[in-house]
Amino acid sequence: MAKLGVNVDHIATVRQARGTIEPDPVTAALLAELAGADGITVHLREDRRHIQDRDVEILRATVQTRLNLEMAATDEMVAIAERLLPDQVTLVPEKRQELTTEGGLDVIGNAAQLRPYIARLGQAGIVVSLFVDPDAAQIKASREVGGNAVEIHTGTYCDAPTEARRATELEKIRQAISCGHESALVVNAGHGLNYRNVREVVALGGVEEYNIGHAIISRALLVGLDRAVREMATLVRC
Ligand code: PXP
Repeated sequence: MAKLGVNVDHIATVRQARGTIEPDPVTAALLAELAGADGITVHLREDRRHIQDRDVEILRATVQTRLNLEMAATDEMVAIAERLLPDQVTLVPEKRQELTTEGGLDVIGNAAQLRPYIARLGQAGIVVSLFVDPDAAQIKASREVGGNAVEIHTGTYCDAPTEARRATELEKIRQAISCGHESALVVNAGHGLNYRNVREVVALGGVEEYNIGHAIISRALLVGLDRAVREMATLVRC
């Protein structure tokens, strides 16, 4: 049965829109756990547009399940992870102007830079996952640079404009899951998943954890976070 990691970044997005103290992503994380989330994910971006350092510090002390810190592979972020010790770090590419993470990491092109950071995170006892496109070469490289897991980027599947493209992208995800297992990696998945499109990915099997944010937080605005998390947990655990 797959697990559900709830990404609470967009609770912080609403808070930062007013520069005030509410809503608090820490409270949202606790409620998500009470509703059955298997883990909490936050992305501490270089520009601090939503999640703040204070959020990660308090979450580290309060999350009872697993804390997954998404971050760029930089000196600053690796030092923060070494200090706060999240259960898992997911390395993502980061561009200042993007609305959200666009595309997976180029593990092959950045292997020399990634390897020492991954080694440091591993020495600190942190599980390291790399966010990659459903691409066999990038997945194999994720193992070669020392990663424990990959998170397969499902965004292209989710945004597919036609049924045919969607089927093609789903097949790429299926092959990527197999490739991850053949490379002895734990396989996670995420980005763009919602209450409709997650079903076909879940039906493929083989994914350890889904990291889902925007769809859950959007639904929570209308039906409450408890119900939004429970409904998604039911879908991913099918
Ligand atoms: N996984 C990664 C690596 C991400 O960067 C994001 C977005 O922060 C997500 C999952 C969650 O994506 P979404 O908000 O579209 O569910």
